[in-house]
Amino acid sequence: MKILVIGGGGREHAIVHALARKPGVEQLWCAPGNAGIGKEAECVAIEADNLRALFNFARDNKVDLTVVGPESPLVDGIVDHFRAGGLAIVGPTRTAARLEGSKSFAKQFMHKYGIPTARYDVIPNLQKGAYQLTHWNGRSVVKADGLAAGKGVKVCQNQAEAKDFLYQLMEKELFGAAGSTVVIEECLDGEEATVMAFCDGKTLVPMPASQDHKRLQDGDEGPNTGGMGAFAPAPLITSKLESEIEKTIFQPFLKGLAEEHFDYRGIIYFGLMITPQGPKVLEFNVRFGDPETQVVLPLLDSSLADVLTAVVQQKLSEVKVRWKKQHALCVVMASGGYPGAYEKGETIHGLSAASSPSVTVYHAGTQVHGKDIVTAGGRVLGVTALGTSLESARDEAYRSVSHISFADMIFRKDIGSRAIPVQGRAG
Ligand code: AMP
Ligand code: GLY
Repeated sequence: MKILVIGGGGREHAIVHALARKPGVEQLWCAPGNAGIGKEAECVAIEADNLRALFNFARDNKVDLTVVGPESPLVDGIVDHFRAGGLAIVGPTRTAARLEGSKSFAKQFMHKYGIPTARYDVIPNLQKGAYQLTHWNGRSVVKADGLAAGKGVKVCQNQAEAKDFLYQLMEKELFGAAGSTVVIEECLDGEEATVMAFCDGKTLVPMPASQDHKRLQDGDEGPNTGGMGAFAPAPLITSKLESEIEKTIFQPFLKGLAEEHFDYRGIIYFGLMITPQGPKVLEFNVRFGDPETQVVLPLLDSSLADVLTAVVQQKLSEVKVRWKKQHALCVVMASGGYPGAYEKGETIHGLSAASSPSVTVYHAGTQVHGKDIVTAGGRVLGVTALGTSLESARDEAYRSVSHISFADMIFRKDIGSRAIPVQGRAG
């Protein structure tokens, strides 16, 4: 089987790593890939948003299955394009990808099918918004409707802050057309968790729950980032909660897909808030999460190629997806300055010493430069360890991190601490 993976971050490295050198996988390409991916797959110099070039590559090389990492190509309709040309691809069609591409669309879907979520209002323009805001006293969350690379959401402490962010989105066009419609919603209290699932439109197979660490600094301080680390399985999601999520979220989600005639053969990501009233959906993503994928796919015991093939062929109910009874923890190493401006081209030292049988160093923003591997992005590496407990995975991951260095590197020292008892903490 010949497989093409689209994207070039840590998530895509984890996908490539799960597929590489596995039975049945004869050839593996990644477009555009990165330095680490290049050791496990053949990198192709095509950007993830160049749909035409990606299609031509897949057709000319007789690719049997394409796996899409990032959201933009999905929202732009890459799945429709490939399928129209007779090529198998993992992901929702353009219409179904609006579950991530438009927050108002996602909220309407949740409302229509009774999926628990925060109370909300859709703001169509600034003038109406000024009136609508009078009903939103106290804390609220203001969100640009469209894709804004995770930056279009602000938790506002009061009406004045909400008004100001609304103005930034709608008048100053902070995120361009993504903010021409805005969603305002109730601020939920609780702890966040991620549940991703394989979905063929009829059957949904959940992956182990995980937790991301979105803030830059220890103790959940500092600005939001793409994610500074993750762990799985998340002890927060007990088997009782799993059953509740199945009943109140998965079942109505599948019903919605069927009734709306959405062709959804891909990965669905449920961003959840576990509130005192039960789990509620904060957002859908129509793809694997990043960095969550770096802790979830290493736990997969079945062949990823087989599972994804079943997804595309709508035979997910026929396969048994097995998971290792282990724990995974990932520490993201980033460039100083991230999520703002940062330097690129810094030589990375210690990579080979950092790998071990229980540790995989996933590359996010790296590039080959002569004999060196250098930094090429904000998030540079994701160091993932497997262990028999979350604590041992954490200790192993940090041991590996201590071997790695590059100028101005930053990383959080408390990944997993909220799930590991205090007396178990290092240092
Ligand atoms: P979203 O992209 O919609 O998931 O929002 C990004 C982040 O904003 C989430 O991961 C939460 O940390 C926060 N957030 C979003 N919606 C809410 C909400 N209704 N209540 C509290 N926090 C939220
Ligand atoms: N970790 C959040 C995301 O992938 O969007």
